[in-house]
Amino acid sequence: MAQKCSVSLLALSLCLLAWEVVADVSVDMVGDTEVYKGESAQIRCQYTFTKNTSTIMVQWFVNDHRGKRVRISYSDLNMQKLDEGTNYTERISVSGDAGGENLTIVNVELSDEREFFCQVNGLSAGNKEGRFDLKVFQPPEHPVIEPVHSGVSVTNALPSKIATCETRKGFPQPNITWYRNHKPLHHENGQVHVLTLLTKDSTGLVTVQSELQYKVTKQDKDAHFFCEVSYFVPGAVRTIESKKVNISIHYPTTKVEMWRVSPEGLVKEGDTVEIRCQGNGNPPPAVKFSREQHPDVDLTAVNGLLVLKGVTRGDSGKYLCHSLDLTQADNKKVVGELSFTVHFLDPAVVVPKDSEEMQKGESLIASCNAMSSLQTNIVWSKNGEEIQKGNVLSLQDATFDTAGHYHCEVTVPSLPGLHTSGSVHIIVNGAPQSRDVMKEVDMEEKVGKWVNLTCDMRGYPRPTVMWNITGSPDWREVLRKETEDSVQSTMTLKVTKDTVATCNASNNMGVENKSFTIKSIPIVPTAERNIAADNSGVIIVVIVVSILLLALGGSVLYFLYKKGKLPCGRSGKQEIINPFSSKEKNNKDEIVVEMKANKTEESGLLQGVNGSKKPPSDQYTANNMERS
Ligand SMILES: *[C@@H]1O[C@H](CO)[C@@H](O)[C@H](O)[C@H]1NC(C)=O
Ligand SMILES: *[C@@H]1O[C@H](CO)[C@@H](O)[C@H](O)[C@H]1NC(C)=O
Ligand SMILES: *[C@@H]1O[C@H](CO)[C@@H](O)[C@H](O)[C@H]1NC(C)=O
Ligand SMILES: *[C@@H]1O[C@H](CO)[C@@H](O)[C@H](O)[C@H]1NC(C)=O
Repeated sequence: MAQKCSVSLLALSLCLLAWEVVADVSVDMVGDTEVYKGESAQIRCQYTFTKNTSTIMVQWFVNDHRGKRVRISYSDLNMQKLDEGTNYTERISVSGDAGGENLTIVNVELSDEREFFCQVNGLSAGNKEGRFDLKVFQPPEHPVIEPVHSGVSVTNALPSKIATCETRKGFPQPNITWYRNHKPLHHENGQVHVLTLLTKDSTGLVTVQSELQYKVTKQDKDAHFFCEVSYFVPGAVRTIESKKVNISIHYPTTKVEMWRVSPEGLVKEGDTVEIRCQGNGNPPPAVKFSREQHPDVDLTAVNGLLVLKGVTRGDSGKYLCHSLDLTQADNKKVVGELSFTVHFLDPAVVVPKDSEEMQKGESLIASCNAMSSLQTNIVWSKNGEEIQKGNVLSLQDATFDTAGHYHCEVTVPSLPGLHTSGSVHIIVNGAPQSRDVMKEVDMEEKVGKWVNLTCDMRGYPRPTVMWNITGSPDWREVLRKETEDSVQSTMTLKVTKDTVATCNASNNMGVENKSFTIKSIPIVPTAERNIAADNSGVIIVVIVVSILLLALGGSVLYFLYKKGKLPCGRSGKQEIINPFSSKEKNNKDEIVVEMKANKTEESGLLQGVNGSKKPPSDQYTANNMERS
């Protein structure tokens, strides 16, 4: 100020007047202007005197709540004291130095946000007062948002309460801003109203409560809302966001939708059909079902689900669903529709029915049909094998093999759950016929052996089969298998002689025979057969010839003895044995000579040999040997 005065000569006299009072001291206040509650603040009062002074008094003041000045500290060059009984007595300390004094406030309170005055008095050297504004800050607590829990209807005429937001104990007063999907909501008449309530507690902390009122639309069902708190801190502004909330928006039903839950695809008779109906309003409206032809007859449904059990073709058609939403605009009827067809397949009808007789060589056409609402597929089969596609079965030139059960299977390709079947039994009438091509069988069998003869005859009506046996008397039937159109008979027969067995099959259509001609083979005794098995044929022949020769030789000797030409003695007996010795050939020759001489006797001897008890079968055995 002194410099300013020296600059302006015009104002010099005014300056000189003031000089007496203030120009001789300057006071500067520096320190912490902004502090958090609870922390310490330091304020320095700095002074400069232009003239030396022997006394300097420094006093600190604040204004009380009525604006009255209250001293809190006094000091001069000799002493320093805090005034008793003030709010600051316990919380401040003052320290002086050359050119200034520091006031320290601990545990800063909100009430410390005020002006602090520092009066410097140097008596004749002048006096001056400095002022210092202290600002105190307390960040608020995290905001708490509470949405309305009941639904908010879009039909409300005025903005409705959406949520409240509260942030507690902040200083200075925080602000609350509302957001919808990150866009701030500002007051707008009839659309957005924000009600704010401020509460100050005894310490001066401010709690802010804000209520958002907002006119909702259907789009708000997916929107989220939150509040943002902004507050001052030393040197800055900070913000905190609440969590986000969504609200349930109520809106009327404008449309109802119907859909079939089950079954998927085509519906067939017997299925359980489930139909769901849902209105697009919120909360979902109650609904009722009816059929198009009886719109006033309600069908029983639970929670929008209509269950039709065991549907028949009569259940085909259009179904309606009415929304019972009371909030619906204009009481306009909102109706949904759904149609479906119940498909069916009736039992198969086969013509001819059940069974049909035909004559051998005849032809027949059978048909199989089943009514259906869908395209069907028909296949004829016999004995599990497919024989014809289509509904017509054509049997040409029937044989016994034509007979049997014919099965027709009706399926619906587009709906595999539908199928039916039918069958017809075809009978082919005909005279008996042997299954074997050979109708005359020739065979040989050893005497005493059992043989099985089988006769397999077909025919319809089933033939009567009988056996006629000429020859061996010992036989019996051991097996008989009969079917509708066949008889198989097996008989076992003991061969004792040449036999003819005839199997006679007959029915009212005719007769068929099959005959077996058995030539019997006589038996060889067991012992001979064993030798025959062990030795060669040549040795056997030699032995047989030898036996014959021995018999012949014996009869010659007997003849000679009777005539008296040979004495009865030991030497004669030795001669009999000789043919078996090494001289056999010589003896034989001699005997042959003798035989020629006595022809009549020889024939008698041979007869005698034949008349012995040797079985005739020996000759057969020999024959067999030579052949084998
Ligand atoms: C609070 O709102 C008032 C009025 O709009 C404004 O002056 C003040 O700066 C705001 N405070 C904060 C912390 O944003
Ligand atoms: C809020 O949104 C969530 C997820 O989008 C949803 O599951 C919930 O039902 C909604 N709450 C309300 C009241 O609409
Ligand atoms: C003949 O048939 C019967 C009954 O089938 C059987 O027990 C027997 O062994 C058969 N005999 C012969 C020689 O095949
Ligand atoms: C077969 O039996 C039928 C009926 O019994 C008879 O008429 C026919 O003469 C018999 N034929 C023979 C070859 O036995």
